[in-house]
Amino acid sequence: MRLGLIGYPLGHSASPWIHETFLSRIGINGSYMKFEIKPGATFKEDVEKIKKSGITGFNITVPHKETIIPLLDELSEEAKEMGAVNTVAYLNGKWTGYNTDGSGYLRALETAYPEIKQNKELNILLLGAGGAARGIYFALLKNGYSIIDIANRTVTGAESIRNSNKNIKTTKVKTLIEAEQDVSEYDLIIQTSSVGMEPNAEESIISLSKLKQNVIVSDIVYKPLKTKFLQDAELLGGRIHYGHTMLLYQAQYAFEIWSKLQVNTDDMNKSLYQLLNGGSPC
Ligand code: ATR
Repeated sequence: MRLGLIGYPLGHSASPWIHETFLSRIGINGSYMKFEIKPGATFKEDVEKIKKSGITGFNITVPHKETIIPLLDELSEEAKEMGAVNTVAYLNGKWTGYNTDGSGYLRALETAYPEIKQNKELNILLLGAGGAARGIYFALLKNGYSIIDIANRTVTGAESIRNSNKNIKTTKVKTLIEAEQDVSEYDLIIQTSSVGMEPNAEESIISLSKLKQNVIVSDIVYKPLKTKFLQDAELLGGRIHYGHTMLLYQAQYAFEIWSKLQVNTDDMNKSLYQLLNGGSPC
């Protein structure tokens, strides 16, 4: 099975290691190639060449998650909701676009903290309102979590996510200052913005000083692996959830679409941590 990743720049992506591990786990011969394609006039031709090369599917990342859409035949419900695609598969004669980011994130969170599935009424605070926040918001709603507030530096961004689902009346939109003051109201806090990412690793989107004990604090940033936000949360008695796990589970979901097979992620979490930490996976 031939697979790949389209994006620019691609740098040290962990995706080849993840998918090649999946291929070997299910015992299928295959490869996962990186295609660094610059945005520009030849993008369509470049993608057509890859499509004709006998590839089963590919991941698509920055800056092409939206520009790939006109080159596809169909979109999944999640990709339509998000207006962005991260996985493409050639199935039943059609090139179909999916978005596995939100569902992959939720798989990662529910794998780390399975008990949250028993309490879907927990109070959730989503910090940030970019593409990642949108995907996570929809995945949470789709899976029955219903009390989700959104706080963002630019309030209109948070309103846009809330307004795209008219059925949900409970979502409150907050400024970051309001969110910081209200931290003690929440049972689960999900940091989806780029704040705290290298080279600005000393930054934190809000102070967690009012955090309740045992609250789950999740950060989708994985460079550094343990952000300042997660370090603070741990010091204040929170239970933390690392961003790199989202990489693994969105990849698992994509792999299932391509192969139509279940593949396990056993022990891969720790290995991925080591790989991203500059070591080789064990
Ligand atoms: P992605 O698609 O990866 O989620 P994005 O769409 O660029 O990325 O969204 C980035 C998020 O990080 C946004 O919520 C952004 O806030 P704004 O909507 O106000 O721009 C947030 N963000 C980025 N830098 C920030 C900063 N210094 N302080 C607070 N929020 C920040």
